[in-house]
Amino acid sequence: MTVEVEIDVQLLKSEIKKTYACVSDEPERDFIFPTGRAWAEDLGYPAELVHVPDTAVESFAGVANPWQLGRLTPGERVLDLGSGAGTDSLVAVQMVGRAGRVTGIDMTPEMLAKARAAAAEMGVANAEFVEGEAEQLPFADASFDVVISNGVIDLIPDKDAVFGELFRVLAPGGRLQIADVTLQNPVSEEGRRNIDLWTG
Ligand SMILES: C[S@@+](CC[C@H](N)C(=O)[O-])C[C@H]1O[C@@H](n2cnc3c(N)ncnc32)[C@H](O)[C@@H]1O
Repeated sequence: MTVEVEIDVQLLKSEIKKTYACVSDEPERDFIFPTGRAWAEDLGYPAELVHVPDTAVESFAGVANPWQLGRLTPGERVLDLGSGAGTDSLVAVQMVGRAGRVTGIDMTPEMLAKARAAAAEMGVANAEFVEGEAEQLPFADASFDVVISNGVIDLIPDKDAVFGELFRVLAPGGRLQIADVTLQNPVSEEGRRNIDLWTG
């Protein structure tokens, strides 16, 4: 089902960037959503979390645990959609090993900077973090075996564009491991136009 949303998408994106720049730069602040290592531990994150530096995990802002859907296999090519400060990417890189590779993409430069710094702290060479938007992925067709994502697609009004891109970049037989927020009841017109409800 396609839902018409009367919202200024560029304004929404700029508000989302402001929110997540703040999660990046001031991780100790209280947000309207939970963040940080204690939250990832509460969600039951896998043992690999312990090796991911605080530089990344202090700005973890996922909504659930995508690893409950399964682990990755050595050698897999992984895309982390909306990788934020890099927690899931840096869990993933430990699972795929040196023969695999992980690409995180995010539109908030402050988050990307933390993810790159955390990857350097871990000394991993096969995780890269790219600035870009989920609706227009700068990757070739069929270039990933798995897409992981945590708390990102709920922030994007044009879900058809996102899933179109995900199916384009996934190789045949590839899979999606997504943790996200879904709605069980319709949202009012007024609610859909409220940018604050989208960004959190
Ligand atoms: C709730 S945070 C989750 C970050 C990370 N997945 C984690 O679990 O910590 C959402 C992230 O999605 C990014 N984001 C939101 N909309 C995006 C879009 N259209 N394209 C790329 N990144 C986007 C934001 O910049 C932010 O870093």
